[in-house]
Amino acid sequence: MEGVAFGARAAAVPARMTTVSRHYFGGDASESDHDLRVDIIENIEEDYGMFVWPCSIILAEYVWQQRSRFSGSKVVELGAGTSLPGLVAAKVGADVTLTDIAHNTEVLNNIRRICTLNDASCTVSGLTWGDWDEPIFDLHPDIILGADVLYDSANFDDLFATVTFLLENSPGAVFITTYHNRSGHHLIEFLMVKWGLKCLKLLDGFSFLPSCKAASLQGNIQLVEIALDKEKRK
Ligand SMILES: C[S@@+](CC[C@H](N)C(=O)[O-])C[C@H]1O[C@@H](n2cnc3c(N)ncnc32)[C@H](O)[C@@H]1O
Repeated sequence: MEGVAFGARAAAVPARMTTVSRHYFGGDASESDHDLRVDIIENIEEDYGMFVWPCSIILAEYVWQQRSRFSGSKVVELGAGTSLPGLVAAKVGADVTLTDIAHNTEVLNNIRRICTLNDASCTVSGLTWGDWDEPIFDLHPDIILGADVLYDSANFDDLFATVTFLLENSPGAVFITTYHNRSGHHLIEFLMVKWGLKCLKLLDGFSFLPSCKAASLQGNIQLVEIALDKEKRK
């Protein structure tokens, strides 16, 4: 691959600023001791969706640690970008659909290249939050993933409209998301009440992260599992 460098956070190649980062799971999550490696093509000069954000590293680790739950399940990743959590889910045996903004062909094509690079057979599909295009009606996920998708308040209602639709379309499904907790838990609580959802689990993202990964990440990142609140929907 021309203009591509390899490494845990490989040095950028100035011509195209394209790198391939390596992500290890299992063992002591090091290059020499791991059970799974996923390679991600990134471009730090391009779109938000062309970079592995810290929330994605934390959500991917969670998927790995919960791999027996993911094996055999149907997974949809929203705002997948470079798709690390979805790829880990695919590698542990989930049937995975990776989605991002429908018109963003650069991000969608990068996802396809990443799937090929990792020999992962995922479906890649445009899905813009709050848009009701045909593909969304065929999605019946057991688990919806979203890493760092709560970063622009202008999009929160569109995102939650899509999440709520998918949860209603797939009885028993859960939405698992990691986000930067900049203003306390109030934001997510407000959104859950507004959309008739409830919190099943709330974790500090660093509480389950191996120390070698935590050392390179900063911030207050939370992981929340969300489901429909049937009581509020009666
Ligand atoms: C901060 S990036 C996170 C990317 C990736 N999940 C990660 O954590 O590395 C936000 C992602 O959401 C996608 N996104 C933003 N607005 C969107 C929308 N309205 N519909 C669908 N995806 C959207 C972006 O293209 C981008 O891939």
